[in-house]
Amino acid sequence: MTSTSATGEATALAYPNIALVKYWGKRDETMFLPVTSSLSMTLDIFATTTTVRVTDGPADEIEFNGTAATGSAHTRIERFLDLVRAKAGRTERATVVTVNDGPTGAGLASSASGFAALATAAATAYGLDLDGRALSRLARRGSGSASRSIFGGFVVWHAGEGDGEAGDLSSYAEPIGGDELDPALVVAVVNQTAKTVSSRDAMRATTQTSPFYRPWAESSMLDFDEMRRAVARGDLAAIGEIAERNALGMHATMLTARPGIRYLSPHSLAVLDAVQALRADGVLAYATIDAGPNVKVLCTRADAARVAATVESLGDFVTTRTAHIGPGATLLPDTAQVG
Ligand code: DP6
Repeated sequence: MTSTSATGEATALAYPNIALVKYWGKRDETMFLPVTSSLSMTLDIFATTTTVRVTDGPADEIEFNGTAATGSAHTRIERFLDLVRAKAGRTERATVVTVNDGPTGAGLASSASGFAALATAAATAYGLDLDGRALSRLARRGSGSASRSIFGGFVVWHAGEGDGEAGDLSSYAEPIGGDELDPALVVAVVNQTAKTVSSRDAMRATTQTSPFYRPWAESSMLDFDEMRRAVARGDLAAIGEIAERNALGMHATMLTARPGIRYLSPHSLAVLDAVQALRADGVLAYATIDAGPNVKVLCTRADAARVAATVESLGDFVTTRTAHIGPGATLLPDTAQVG
């Protein structure tokens, strides 16, 4: 090898997060600035582990669950690495190896854990020294929801103010405590296959065409304030109630896009019915759904087994995984060597 370029390698691990007040709509697509602030819970299942190694090769090489990434999946990561390179004042290409524990592109937040892990590993591999806030802003540029997976527990992502570079600085995520709540999230997986409309395309179509979008965004801002207060006082029932109405409202905006976008399947509705029946039985259980048919049920740790059993009793079409509060993105210590 004749190259004299410094090389670095780092491996990071990050978990998905599930929004309890959703991010749905961008005011600036290039900078990934959201219309509204959002609030999430980071999970402890479905981790993504990503290694970034700076190389002297001619192009970025990207491997995803053992297979070389091509096409738009490759371009999306390459563009993100370009951002990191620009920030670091470096030009070398990288090898990226990613392993995802959970299903990809099925509304189970794989892009959140994916870009949180990539941002954390790439920043270190390219020699950037970023604090959590700066890392969340960087991860945001890969996928908005990834900004929140930089942190563990309950996390807010501030919409911030202004567009372009000005908005960039004020749109970051931060943890807000409340971990003592120790809830469970029963993930009801009714479909593991990747969706046909990406959340990015769906949110664009929704913001541009749904007459219900503005009213939802306005009520979501109120939900956000109310949710912060509910987390601060440790009120899980209020958290669940706000989360469920916020998610159903988001789906209402999609259903009323032109043409309408529907992620909910009959199986999703069956799980929603089961959640309602559990509540009628006095169980604290509330549902949230992202850009996919899978339903996540928020409940207490003590009720999680009962909630999971009730959902699984619906039939073979549904399986469950139970998550609790998880940690933020971390570098795996032995692998980090800054070039
Ligand atoms: C429904 O973060 O995947 O999960 O920023 O375009 O990559 P991009 O979108 P993404 O959207 C997530 C949408 C959501 C709600 C949420 O996580 O807040």
